[in-house]
Amino acid sequence: MSWSRREFLERSAALSAAGFLPRLPGAWEAPAPVAGTPFRGRPCVVSSSNGIRGVQVAYDRMVAGEDPLDAAIAGVNIQELDPDDQSVGLGGLPNEEGVVQLDASCMHGPTRRAGAVACLEGIATPSLVAKAVMDYTDHVMLVGEGAGRFARAMGFKEQNLLTDKSRQDWMRWKSRLNPNDAWLDHSEDIRIKFTTGTINMNAVNAAGDIGSVTTTSGMAWKVPGRIGDSPIVGAGQYCDNTVGAAGSTGRGEANIKTCGAFLVVEFMRQGAPPQQACLKALERVVAMTEARLLGPGGRPRFDLEFYAVTKAGDFGGATLYSGGRFAVCDERGARLEAAASLFRR
Ligand code: GLY
Repeated sequence: MSWSRREFLERSAALSAAGFLPRLPGAWEAPAPVAGTPFRGRPCVVSSSNGIRGVQVAYDRMVAGEDPLDAAIAGVNIQELDPDDQSVGLGGLPNEEGVVQLDASCMHGPTRRAGAVACLEGIATPSLVAKAVMDYTDHVMLVGEGAGRFARAMGFKEQNLLTDKSRQDWMRWKSRLNPNDAWLDHSEDIRIKFTTGTINMNAVNAAGDIGSVTTTSGMAWKVPGRIGDSPIVGAGQYCDNTVGAAGSTGRGEANIKTCGAFLVVEFMRQGAPPQQACLKALERVVAMTEARLLGPGGRPRFDLEFYAVTKAGDFGGATLYSGGRFAVCDERGARLEAAASLFRR
């Protein structure tokens, strides 16, 4: 179904008045089936572990017929709107000036489209704004004030995203700063809740159509204007409807340099199973890590995680350090699975 911008605005105004988030209609037309046997896969949703509630929601919506990207976005909306998840959306930890700045990107496999926003302020659901960029503009990415103006014009509700809990954490961090602190070398002392948490979700339906989305408040206490990997198509998430999708959480700076999500999908294209593809991408991350971030034995002093699903519904996840888990939902229900790892913690 394709909606005009005017129809969308009228509808989202009515929904906002009724207290609902604007729901973005899919503006794409499903491609006509190709002659021959239709592809039969296994519906599956895979995400970072904080998506354990969301994967069930996404899976249920998808098997009920909802588009995989819309379903995945509904899944991540749960974390975006949860004030207790301090790594994303409402309640996300702020930048060094106490301002919550959000990043997100998404891709829609069947129509080969992408959308992204970065440094978005005052809107709790950047994933939906990223999809609006994809559906209603000729662009892929909007940032900062322009992204905010666009979101407001599309009917998204503005709100204060800094919860008391996150404000207090920020105050505690700020109170421990001293004149000798540098951006490059953080002492352990000021790393209070130095999170790079995020949520990535990838969904594939029985027809093998895929959607992927990643959304985050980024690195806590970041320099204002800092953008991580989440809004970078090919780094924070990537989707190719002929192969599969992948996404990441963890230190965005490390992932951007390897175009990690794209790399995972390319390894799967070459035949690697999802878990193996994630591990191979992590090896590349280690190889690309600058010396100041390497500890004893050449091991990175940060963590990074990849999650992946194939067109047929096979899935996997891997982290740099052992002990990580990821969320999955398929015909066996929602659960956490152990991630493979490169190094023992
Ligand atoms: N992976 C999230 C970030 O670094 O912003």
